Amino acid sequence: MLETLKKTASFFLFIIMLTCNSVFGTQFKNTQKQLDEYAAYVTEHRLTEFGYPANQELKLKEFYKWYIDSGLYGTMTNNVGDPFNSSHTFLNSLDFEREVIEFFGPKYGFEKDNLWGIVTNSGTDGNNHGIYFGAKYLEKITGQKPVVYVSEDAHYSNRRLANLQNLELIIIPADEHGRMIPEKFEKALVKDRPALVIYAIGTTFKGGIDDQNAINAIIAKYPSIKVYRHLDAALFGGYLPYTKYKDTVNRKVHPFDSIAISGHKFFGMDEPAGIFLTTKEIKDNQTPYNITYLNTNMPMINCSRSAVSPLKFWWIIHNTGVKGCTKQANGMLENAVWLKNELDRRHWPAWLEPMSNTVYFKVPPKSIVDKYYLAPEYDIRLGGELSHIVVMQHMTKRRLQNFLDDIAKIK
Ligand SMILES: Cc1ncc(COP(=O)(O)O)c(C=O)c1O
Repeated sequence: MLETLKKTASFFLFIIMLTCNSVFGTQFKNTQKQLDEYAAYVTEHRLTEFGYPANQELKLKEFYKWYIDSGLYGTMTNNVGDPFNSSHTFLNSLDFEREVIEFFGPKYGFEKDNLWGIVTNSGTDGNNHGIYFGAKYLEKITGQKPVVYVSEDAHYSNRRLANLQNLELIIIPADEHGRMIPEKFEKALVKDRPALVIYAIGTTFKGGIDDQNAINAIIAKYPSIKVYRHLDAALFGGYLPYTKYKDTVNRKVHPFDSIAISGHKFFGMDEPAGIFLTTKEIKDNQTPYNITYLNTNMPMINCSRSAVSPLKFWWIIHNTGVKGCTKQANGMLENAVWLKNELDRRHWPAWLEPMSNTVYFKVPPKSIVDKYYLAPEYDIRLGGELSHIVVMQHMTKRRLQNFLDDIAKIK
């Protein structure tokens, strides 16, 4: 009996050891060497990544030094909760998060006393909040679920999120510049339902900006339709406030209820992040979630949120300031115009939308696509296969010249 028990116990021990080994131990194929090689590869190639909207001129070295010196590196912090509600007592950076939101609010035309927002996980997280807050707000004031309208060229996250939130979605065709076609929007408008309209302020591929005046003029023709306007301004929303085009994202000039902007595109965060801004009125008309153990109402979708991201954001805006952002924003736009003109000079079909830092053009050969990590697109109205360069801060004329030299070599 004892022998059988011993045998059974050793069999189970053997199985547990095997499982532990495969989960935690010998199954890793990468070693520290691969980790170092990965880091070397990424840092070496970061400046030739031309196809995606990431600012690679990061200014966080001093932040990381401070993070280690301060001891925060060994501390778990968490922004569970609302940055505009002081009832949270755990270890968080909500105070700094609120300051980030209050810094950005006025840049988009929000009054300080009618502003609410959070630092998000990403642009998609911001759109999720925009669609969720919009749908709940409209439902509350009308008793009806809205129809969501978004252009076919807007970022796919909007379609995915409408699907996730089980909302009826109407996709409006876009013109060859990437802008929603207003006449198609009017035709699609469901006249007896509230409307949640998503405006693409810079489409991902062509950098098209939906014509807010034209769409708003259509909406004004149907005063009985209750409307919520969300701006998906992931990349452009970062830099437009520092240019002559700042009114495009000013709700005092073009009304909107919420806006989502990515932090890792223009602002130079080193990991996905963003901001979501809306009014207090919208926030106060949501489905309440009064959570006893948190001692408060929880308006945002996520429970745990990064406490480090708001600190990095705070650090960046403190150290870059309005002056730095203005220099960077205008430098990008200037370089984009330069690139477009240089492609024109070489008779390489290329396009650049107003207010945009995204030059899109006939696709070059694969070797060039691979070298500069270019993204693909297809539009028969513009001759078929396309690529683009998103002219971010690190894309100096010198670096862009290398790309142009490669284009010039094409037979
Ligand atoms: C216009 C637009 N909206 C939303 C997103 C999604 O943002 P994120 O990648 O930060 O989730 C992107 C990403 O490129 C985008 O270009």
